[in-house]
Amino acid sequence: MKTDKSDILTLLRNSADYISGQQLCDRFGVTRTAVWKVINQLKEEGYQIESVSGRGYRLVEGPADMLSESEIASRLKTKWAGRKLYYYASTGSTNTDAKRLGEEGEPHGTVVVADIQTAGKGRRGRSWQTLSGTALSFTLLLRPDFVPDKASMITLVMALSVAEAVEEITGAATGIKWPNDIVMNRKKICGMLTEMTMTPEMDEIQYVVVGAGINVNNMSQEEFQEEVRPTATSLRIETGQQYNRACLLDKVLQRFEENYATFLETLDLSGLQERYQAHLLNMGAQVRVLDPAGEYTGMAEGIDAQGELIVVRENGERTPVYAGEVSVRGLYGYV
Ligand code: BTN
Repeated sequence: MKTDKSDILTLLRNSADYISGQQLCDRFGVTRTAVWKVINQLKEEGYQIESVSGRGYRLVEGPADMLSESEIASRLKTKWAGRKLYYYASTGSTNTDAKRLGEEGEPHGTVVVADIQTAGKGRRGRSWQTLSGTALSFTLLLRPDFVPDKASMITLVMALSVAEAVEEITGAATGIKWPNDIVMNRKKICGMLTEMTMTPEMDEIQYVVVGAGINVNNMSQEEFQEEVRPTATSLRIETGQQYNRACLLDKVLQRFEENYATFLETLDLSGLQERYQAHLLNMGAQVRVLDPAGEYTGMAEGIDAQGELIVVRENGERTPVYAGEVSVRGLYGYV
């Protein structure tokens, strides 16, 4: 049997007391040498593990922020999201990976995480750069059994989940720029890209991938691509603190599990609308709707249960704006 580093790290992380080498051997059916090798690997990766003869091993402290399969797996407390996990130190795009895994039949809840993305995808065909040690870039593979026209709401469920998880971990307030940009101090900390694949008959969803890129530990605005630099920021820039991305991923996925369950009860956002709107920065604000059929301005009144932004136009007409089609800007800037 292969000694799983993730299992040993999880056991050490969840134990307040020392765990003897014998306990680890018995638990995983491996030799003392195999346990010793894993402990040494973990130490080399930056985990401070105390070994006391006669007592065993104790995890004193882990690296402040490090992404690896075992770091993520040892922190996940979710029921189904991320139970099947793919971690890449570097990949093209986690959304592209998740779609491939979707084709290969991987289960609902599979998560792909990468430290570096070399061909990350943004909305509207833009690229999304991810430098090592900075962002939490992940994609969740879902296999919903509802009709395709409900799928656009999944992004709003994820947006709320990220906003709430970031608040929990930083203690700082977040806002949502409809439909799914997460904002701190009027600058963007997270973008999302949801892609849906239909069955060959084109009548059912085969799978949906929801990708999110959260700027976590970027130290300065210079680290962002030039075109997004004026409106981008990171949790570290805004709060002055470094965060553990694996811990943040766990919080996001836990929130998503709860919020997705609420969404499934009604197959709309009625159960989440209030909390979503409490974060909605466009609420009561003048917006410019960049509709391919013609731009217009109006006052955003909130979202309806389908996640559409209700915009009251100058002539008094209330127009529901569908997230898939258009983009919305503040009248005097990004939000
Ligand atoms: C946007 O333009 O605001 C959306 C950005 C989405 C980026 C994330 S990073 C993880 C996932 N993989 C991708 O290639 N894109 C999304």
